[in-house]
Amino acid sequence: MINFPQLQRLLQDRRPQTAIILGSGLGAVADNIENPLIIDYADIEGFPRPGVAGHSGKIIVGRLGRHEVLCLQGRFHLYEGHAPQVIAEVVQALKKLGILRLIVTNAAGSLNPELTPGSLMLIKDHINFSGRNPLIGPNDDNIGPRFPDMSNAYDREMRRQLEQLAAKHGIALPEGVYLMVLGPNFETAAEIRAFRVLGADAVGMSTVPEVIAAVHAGIKVLAVSAITNFGTGLQTQPLSHEETIANAARAGGNLTSLITAYLEEY
Ligand code: HPA
Repeated sequence: MINFPQLQRLLQDRRPQTAIILGSGLGAVADNIENPLIIDYADIEGFPRPGVAGHSGKIIVGRLGRHEVLCLQGRFHLYEGHAPQVIAEVVQALKKLGILRLIVTNAAGSLNPELTPGSLMLIKDHINFSGRNPLIGPNDDNIGPRFPDMSNAYDREMRRQLEQLAAKHGIALPEGVYLMVLGPNFETAAEIRAFRVLGADAVGMSTVPEVIAAVHAGIKVLAVSAITNFGTGLQTQPLSHEETIANAARAGGNLTSLITAYLEEY
C-alpha cells in the first residue's frame, strides 16, 4: 500500500502536467506510453475502486509525445454506485499531483444523423442530465469557487489545436454537445428524441462529473467522444455486433492517433 505523499514522491522525477482519462474500449492510448510506471488503484491508500469485478483500475505514468502524462485506466461511473464526490476527490488528487490539463475520452451514442458510428466528436459543451454533481457539499475555497463558471469548460484553445491536428491527419472531428445520463440502461427512443430537442449531439454515462470537478479546480479540459452507435430509435437497420465492434475500433484508433499527435505538438 502506498499513501498519497509516497505517490507524490514516486512521481517526483516525472512531474506529469497532463492527465488522460481513458474511456471504455479506449485503453490503446496507454499502450503508446514509453517507459511506463504502472500503479494499481488498489495499491493506493484511500483510492476508490472502479465497479467492474476483478478489474482494479490503473494509473499509468510515462512519456507520450513531448510530455510526461498520467493516464487513468478504469473510470468511476456513477451508475456503479459511486458518490459523485468520489470523482471530485480523484480529480482534486490529480491537481495536487501537479496536473494542469485533462484530456477526457468516452464512448457515446449519437443523436445526430450526421455523426455516424465509428466517428469522433469533439465536445464543445455539455448538458448535465444526470441529476448529480460532484461539487455538492461544503466548498473548499482553496481548490475553487463555490459557483464555478462553465462558459469555457471545454477549453477553446485546446479545441482549436485539436481541430487543426485532426484536419492535418485527415480525421473528421465535428464539434458537438454531450449529454450525460446516469444510466446504466440505454435510453428509450422517446428519451433520445427529447435529448435531440434539447440540443445534444451525443449521449453517454460519464465525463460530465470529471469535467465539472476539473473546471472547478482550474484544470483545463479537452474531451472527445468515440461514437459507437446511434441512439435508440435513430437507426432503422439494427447494427450487427461485428459492426459495433468495428466502429468502436475505428473511432478508438483515430482517437489514439489524435491524442498521441496532440501531445507531440502541444
Ligand atoms: N447511450 C448511452 N451511453 C452510451 C451509448 C448510448 O447509446 N453508447 C455508448 N455509451
